[in-house]
Amino acid sequence: MRESDVAERVEALRLSRRAGEMQASPLRKLASIAEKRKMEGIKVYHLNIGQPDLPTSPAVFEAIRSFSLPTIAYAPSNGIPVALAAWKKYYAHYGIQFEESELIVTAGGSEAIIFAMCAICDAGDEVMVFEPFYTNYNGFATISDVRLVPVSLSINNGFHLPEEQEIERCITSRTRAILFCNPSNPTGTIYAKEEMERLVRLARKHDLFLISDEVYREFAYDAEAHSIMDFPDAWDRAIVVDSCSKRFNVCGARIGVLASHHSGVVQTALKFGMARLSVATIEQAAVSPLLGDPGPYTAPLVKEFRHRRDVVYDGLKKIPGVTFYKPEGAFYIVIGLPLRDADHFARWLIEEYELNGETVLLAPAAGFYATPNKGANEVRLAFMLNANDLQRSLDILQAALDRYGKAHH
Ligand SMILES: Cc1ncc(COP(=O)(O)O)c(C=O)c1O
Repeated sequence: MRESDVAERVEALRLSRRAGEMQASPLRKLASIAEKRKMEGIKVYHLNIGQPDLPTSPAVFEAIRSFSLPTIAYAPSNGIPVALAAWKKYYAHYGIQFEESELIVTAGGSEAIIFAMCAICDAGDEVMVFEPFYTNYNGFATISDVRLVPVSLSINNGFHLPEEQEIERCITSRTRAILFCNPSNPTGTIYAKEEMERLVRLARKHDLFLISDEVYREFAYDAEAHSIMDFPDAWDRAIVVDSCSKRFNVCGARIGVLASHHSGVVQTALKFGMARLSVATIEQAAVSPLLGDPGPYTAPLVKEFRHRRDVVYDGLKKIPGVTFYKPEGAFYIVIGLPLRDADHFARWLIEEYELNGETVLLAPAAGFYATPNKGANEVRLAFMLNANDLQRSLDILQAALDRYGKAHH
């Protein structure tokens, strides 16, 4: 068959509506340009993604090496007993009581969020989110046929929650849940106890679930990061989604969990779990020792990220015209730039600019908003570099803003 015939037949085959809706990661848009730039000998500082740069604990590799069963069999769909016991112990460490029967081990926090959405939403139902939000929530919503309804936050108060009535305005008869991330990606905001109580009150008033994304729990610098499970009034409706990825630097192990006192949600998540059979057996075993005793690994990690946060915060103070705040947790900050189109600036920065053979890759923040034109002058920085490189990146950013301002005004 000729190539043109194949092309014609392919053309005749229709993809789904969902195929059109599914987003490619906006964070990767500029990555290929960065690769090209590196081939040209330019050093690129990656401030664009949350790919941890620090070594995984040797205990994880030790556990992988010592795996001694003769067959890598399917694990139970809810997780291997040792991993379930380890997650239970992990939560107990933070004063949170979950029984093994209330936990489903998932392929990262990502799968836990998809399971949660699928368990509580019918096609076209709505989940409220606070924008800017973790951009993959869009993809999870498309997979689950859920509509995300954004409530806008503002850089002017460090992306803390608006008043109760303002949030309430976005609740409709189709709203099934409020999904939030605390500490937040992409803003680094940690919600105060009172803000969390606001969400709990609204959820109770409108019969909503609370999907609480707590994958950055340990990364709390200035304020305690409350779990939704710290609020007994939320116990009937809280779904905790969690992950080993960031706190243990094991993103590639793909181990997360869905945890809830709501037995219907857990039983349904288990049925979704059965359909995908199981989560990787060896990785579940490998992260379990860390889950059982997280402190010795996470304490120095969090100290390092606090230092990086301080370097970025102090460095930003020196850059004229930039709007920012002090992120209380996680390892991200959204900053406002003194220009109109951060997307254009980020592209120019990676495509054309260099300072002594070096440049910076940023994530334009518009990709973290659902409302068109929101965050147009904002970018997200991730603190995935050591303090020296972060400082150098900010110097480059400052020089680039100066040059860009002169060239484009
Ligand atoms: C807020 C948030 N939730 C969930 C995830 C999913 O992570 P994973 O599937 O690796 O657990 C991420 C990853 O970056 C994240 O930032």
